[in-house]
Amino acid sequence: MPFSERTQEAMNQQLNLEIQAFYTYLAMSDYFDSVSLPGFSQWMFNQSQEEWTHAMKFRTFIQDRGGRVRLGQISEPVAEYGSSLEAFRQALDNEQQVSRSISNIYALAVEEKDFATQAFLNWFVTEQVEEEKTMNDIIDWLKRIGDSPNGLFMLDEKLGQGGLTGPSSPDNGIPA
Ligand code: FEO
Repeated sequence: MPFSERTQEAMNQQLNLEIQAFYTYLAMSDYFDSVSLPGFSQWMFNQSQEEWTHAMKFRTFIQDRGGRVRLGQISEPVAEYGSSLEAFRQALDNEQQVSRSISNIYALAVEEKDFATQAFLNWFVTEQVEEEKTMNDIIDWLKRIGDSPNGLFMLDEKLGQGGLTGPSSPDNGIPA
């Protein structure tokens, strides 16, 4: 089954994008730590570890197909944000960029009848729906909370416990 130079190059770029996401979320975790939001910090740290796992999936796939991994440059991540909302808006922006990039590689794999790459990317297509939804949910909560320290405290606790089930869930217990 062919693994073209074009697809290989696109997969290497995606590997770079996933490592960049790892780096960005690690810096966000450090930002949240610096403003004493340990739950946000832990949540973002976990997110960074997921991105690292994504990067390694691409690395292994490129190798398994007989390709050559080419590591690109990683740019310095933003260290400071004006607010939690600003950081999460940036995170959503990142995820949308990742989704677009995966769609473009998928389209290329379809064009080249590269079924192995399509099968591999299916997991990421589903994962991106979940990641964008989660970021959107947290943004919705941050908008509702506004300047309420109580609300932010509760959300910090919730995220520190491992997540958010979404604003539509009746049991997430976060005051508006
Ligand atoms: Fe691996 Fe959140 O994209």
